[in-house]
Amino acid sequence: MFIALCVFSCTPVSFSQQNLNGINSNQEVYSLSQSAHLLLEDSPLSMRPLLLILLDPVFTKPWDCLSTWFRNDEVAAFSVAHGKTIWEYTGQDPRLNNLFNEAMASDSILVSKVIVSKCKGIFEGVNSLVDVGGGTGTMAKAISEAFPHIDCTVFDLPRVVSDLQGSKNLKYVAGDMFEAVPSADALLLKWILHDWGDEDCIKILEQCKQAITRNGKQRVGKVIIIDMVRENKNRDEAVSTETQLFFDLEMMVTLNGMERNEKEWAKLFFDAGFLNYKIHPVLGTRALIELHP
Ligand SMILES: C[S@@+](CC[C@H](N)C(=O)[O-])C[C@H]1O[C@@H](n2cnc3c(N)ncnc32)[C@H](O)[C@@H]1O
Repeated sequence: MFIALCVFSCTPVSFSQQNLNGINSNQEVYSLSQSAHLLLEDSPLSMRPLLLILLDPVFTKPWDCLSTWFRNDEVAAFSVAHGKTIWEYTGQDPRLNNLFNEAMASDSILVSKVIVSKCKGIFEGVNSLVDVGGGTGTMAKAISEAFPHIDCTVFDLPRVVSDLQGSKNLKYVAGDMFEAVPSADALLLKWILHDWGDEDCIKILEQCKQAITRNGKQRVGKVIIIDMVRENKNRDEAVSTETQLFFDLEMMVTLNGMERNEKEWAKLFFDAGFLNYKIHPVLGTRALIELHP
């Protein structure tokens, strides 16, 4: 719960204390803090599904298999615990697939609110956008509504998007980001690259680079990444470091992924053939990174 409260906030306190100066006594009362409201089921910005999946036995069991994993060749402790990768598991188990997609959607509701209100400039000159690994489309929907001139595509695995219906400027396309990505002015990667090791990230980034719109010989768009940048000094250090290290471990245990610092990100970008990047620290423990070919 501590970690869930820290994902967006640097005040992980669940309760706030107040003094009621009554006639007869000074009474102390407790109420939910602002960040604890994120855990309520009926809160419009509820992060409860994210907490539920982090605490689900399917996600906690791999932590008990670390010593076995350190002594064998499985890519992640998750595969030691379950005999399959998380993507194979969600592909075969509708309960976990729904829980996972809901957790991602709950995070995207909160993140999209910040992005469309505080980062409008990022979308200037963008007429088409593909949300690569966009899940059930919460992020792309918010962008398509806030910027009706942008044609948005949610691109994800067939089992995630094939039954979903688009709307006026939003469509769903099924595919594999390691094989090809639909073309657009902006390719969005939210909470994708931290799922993968460096080699796979470079493959994904190269596919995105190929997909950026061309004007003659020149590629004129960009990649937008929403992920953690570890050791981001703009944040309240103790709490954000603890949260970032927790996610780093969670990615290692569940997916063979990791959270990266700026130097590690820059190496990936240059290895994938991008020329420059800019980090916008607008999302608490996470950041928005603009990446240009
Ligand atoms: C951590 S989730 C992030 C979802 C969404 N971007 C968000 O932040 O809410 C990773 C997503 O990548 C998708 N994914 C995994 N492997 C993929 C592949 N090979 N091609 C396309 N999407 C993939 C998953 O189905 C999942 O929706």
